[in-house]
Amino acid sequence: MFTRKIATSALLCAAVFVITLLGLPVNLQAEVTEASPAKSAKTTLDNLMTAFAGESNAHAKYLKFAKKADEEGYGQVASLFRAAARAEQIHFERHAKEIQKLGGAADAKIIMTEVKSTKENLETALKGETYESTEMYPSFLKQAQKENNSGAASNFEDAAAAEAVHAKWYKTALKNLDAWKGGPKEFMVCPVCGNVVDVITGPSCTICMEPTDKFISVI
Ligand SMILES: [Fe+2]
Ligand SMILES: [Fe+2]
Repeated sequence: MFTRKIATSALLCAAVFVITLLGLPVNLQAEVTEASPAKSAKTTLDNLMTAFAGESNAHAKYLKFAKKADEEGYGQVASLFRAAARAEQIHFERHAKEIQKLGGAADAKIIMTEVKSTKENLETALKGETYESTEMYPSFLKQAQKENNSGAASNFEDAAAAEAVHAKWYKTALKNLDAWKGGPKEFMVCPVCGNVVDVITGPSCTICMEPTDKFISVI
């Protein structure tokens, strides 16, 4: 009997609460929404600056990782890091051009990542490339398309595809790191999109269609 009384009171309270909520004036509900902090929208210029800083830092980081790989006897990994560094340079130079077109100034602060063992450095690099290719560049590309900025869109599209290739290389090296000892090893880098291959298999880049005879050799 007592339990039933409590249950009935609880039901009554809940009903009163719902009725009160439904009765809220519409303008008050709007005020609640407006009071929440507005997300500041990132423009393509903001995104180009972020990408420029990211690529500049990746370039510096990979050169340090290459030195460490050489010291540890992973000569082929060292070559891979140097090839990826060259690719990141291609990316940041392209971003700089688009930043200038939009009236901005390309400027990046280089913050050095800690240099650890080659295995750990490869893991760090893989994480960065995966983030850039699956999250950062795809979202930047959407914004550039929204702004009808074809130059920036093309940069972001090419970079996303090239970073995915870099990630694949790092994964391959991590899978059987011992096989990457010795070296060096020659890699070919596309001067337009930063694609990295070890063997040229066709007349043009699989990402951007640049003729492969223009590819840059990095050892
Ligand atoms: Fe990369
Ligand atoms: Fe390319």
